[in-house]
Amino acid sequence: MKKWMKRTAVALLSIGLLTQFAAPGVMANPSKPAPDAKILNVAHRGASGHAPEHTIVAYEKGIEMKADYIEIDLQMTKDGVLIAMHDTTVNRTTNGTGRVADKTVAEIKQLDAGTWFNERNPGKAKEEYVGLEVPTLEEIFQHFGKSTKYYIETKSPTLYPGMEDELLRLMDEYKLTGVNGRSSHVIIQSFHPESLLIIHEKNPNIPLVQLLSFPTTGIGADRELEQIKKYAIGVGPNFSRINESYIQKVRSHGLSIHPYTLNSEEQMRRALEWGVTGVFTDYPDVFRQVIKEYKSKK
Ligand code: G3P
Ligand code: CA
Repeated sequence: MKKWMKRTAVALLSIGLLTQFAAPGVMANPSKPAPDAKILNVAHRGASGHAPEHTIVAYEKGIEMKADYIEIDLQMTKDGVLIAMHDTTVNRTTNGTGRVADKTVAEIKQLDAGTWFNERNPGKAKEEYVGLEVPTLEEIFQHFGKSTKYYIETKSPTLYPGMEDELLRLMDEYKLTGVNGRSSHVIIQSFHPESLLIIHEKNPNIPLVQLLSFPTTGIGADRELEQIKKYAIGVGPNFSRINESYIQKVRSHGLSIHPYTLNSEEQMRRALEWGVTGVFTDYPDVFRQVIKEYKSKK
């Protein structure tokens, strides 16, 4: 084969490989998203601006609103069952009190996970929310199967040793683990690198996102991002602590960036202008509209 042909073949192969393994929402050549680039719309705790967070109804609404992923925070019961809940206690989002870690799943299933929402949001209250159950992760997988994608957070891994194994077991049982990053039905996220590293060691094909409540934005940013790149496809920083240059830096490292939690149109527009590759929002319907308008102007 002539030299130039060989070089062209190698270049084409590299482009192909880069495209194949690029993380969802990331282009092989990082720059501001092209008008047709896929920007991930993640329904934070389900469409939690419209319905009680982490209930089947909130996830259904997220899917109806065409979110690309439904976001699920995980806690684990005393008898080792993974449930969808943000807090380590049931106090805020149910009619019960106490730590999840001290309750069995049967006890958790007795709780009402909807009435608090009606009381806090009289304008959005619905009779159907009264008495909603806290779903287990398995129930969520049974209910939605492969009809959606899941963006799952190992919420308090130090409190729940073994939660990663149980999560991987369920993903396996429900065949949600792809053979490469793009085909996986699940992205796993955590503020705890140790938790992500446990998962990465067991299955390096699962796309992981490192959450950052205090992302390093100045000196040290490159180092932090290179470290994260060893095991994750992207970062999920607190939106209030980042700017355009940080987003561009993340992308120049070939990482996805999905900041949390953007609920106003103004924040969403700014995030798109700055070049994010996805967003966590309680209002996937609003973000969908903002993406549409943003693309139509490009
Ligand atoms: O997982 C992204 C975002 O949800 C992180 O914050 O507290 O809502 O889980 P939190
Ligand atoms: Ca979360």
